[in-house]
Amino acid sequence: MKVIDLGEYGEEFTADPHPVYTKLRAEGPAHLVRIPEGGEVWLIVGHEEGRAALADPRLSKDWRSNGDWEYGALPASANMLETDPPQHTRLRKLVAREFTPRRIDELRPRVQEITDGLLDTMLAAPGRTADLVDSLAFPLPMTVICELLGVSDLDQEAFRVLSNAAVAPAADDGKNTAVREMGEYLIELIEDKRSSRPGDDLLSALIRARDEDGDQLSPDELIGMAFLLLVAGHETTVNLISNGIRVLLGHPGQLAALRADFDGLIDNAVEEMLRYEGPVETATYRFAKEPLLVGEVLIPAGAPVLVSLASAGRDPHRHPDPDRFDILRAPQGHLAFGHGIHFCLGAPLARMEGRIAVRTLLERAPGLQLAAEAGELEWLPGMLIRGVRHLPVRW
Ligand code: HEM
Repeated sequence: MKVIDLGEYGEEFTADPHPVYTKLRAEGPAHLVRIPEGGEVWLIVGHEEGRAALADPRLSKDWRSNGDWEYGALPASANMLETDPPQHTRLRKLVAREFTPRRIDELRPRVQEITDGLLDTMLAAPGRTADLVDSLAFPLPMTVICELLGVSDLDQEAFRVLSNAAVAPAADDGKNTAVREMGEYLIELIEDKRSSRPGDDLLSALIRARDEDGDQLSPDELIGMAFLLLVAGHETTVNLISNGIRVLLGHPGQLAALRADFDGLIDNAVEEMLRYEGPVETATYRFAKEPLLVGEVLIPAGAPVLVSLASAGRDPHRHPDPDRFDILRAPQGHLAFGHGIHFCLGAPLARMEGRIAVRTLLERAPGLQLAAEAGELEWLPGMLIRGVRHLPVRW
């Protein structure tokens, strides 16, 4: 089987992977590739095949059953994104009731308030320029998830550094240290809440949570859950906001249409942002428990598999004229939040934050423009997260 070396495309693949995905899709829905950070992986690029793979029980999420494979491993031994049923079912059930659309809707006024406060500060900046990532896209989801979990303001900056390092590609020493430090920090936080300071936050609720059978989260599971929620809760939404605004500002006609009808178009605009340039480029690793036929390709047992959500979003069989950004199209059925039992738990929260952030920003900064050329932007490394480190804007 020919191995396609994605590293050969260099920085270009990180800045814009879509031409490569288009080429790969034309050749078939699945390929054996060497990813830029090293390692051979089976990459699924077709929408239908990707959707099927995300829900296929023959693909395991449990890397512990796959020898010494290290990619994508989060620290705590048990979290729902790294387990299969029945463990996954149990972990997800214990937290799912906190993330229903109704519960999330109750957070709306607070999300609006945080957005307003961040924009007050940003728009008062001298020179009418700012980095949208630092001013809004990062602090909004970070503040929301920290408040939800009950992580005090003081800890947030330290957390940002650790969490960025934890999702960076390649497991080097810096990453391992960051992951360990984050684990230690969470152990302390959980101990503190358990013994002396339980509150009405989600972490305190999870410490108390029991299901109908009296089942409770173990200490390891609590750390895994807190880690997953904190990292998944802000490494992603930041890029929904920054990718979304970047793309919108590059399509003045679409921007004008949205400005003319926020009520009618904002929900659809955010779905189109997720399809066209979603924050999660590839879903997390899966492992074939048995040989698996995808298209004409036989993925061997034990092999690591990645589904490219970015490629699925541009599959012309699912989304006609896929490279056209069009907030009026019906992008429903995109895979930006995954599919199947691991479908993003935080999707209602992410959507709400995205809609409020984009709308409020555009309403309050009527002349908003990009203040950098595409070539000047620094892209986040690796194939997991798609986004820029900074997004200079002026108004
Ligand atoms: C735009 C923002 C977001 C995007 C694009 C996104 C995307 C995803 C994707 C693609 C998956 C599935 C990964 C896989 O199957 O390999 C996932 C899972 C998950 N996400 Fe999100 N996410 C976002 C925001 C959030 C937020 C705000 C939270 C929490 C507060 C969150 C919590 C989770 C959790 C807990 C899982 C694991 C679910 C499971 O394994 O059952 N996500 N997310």
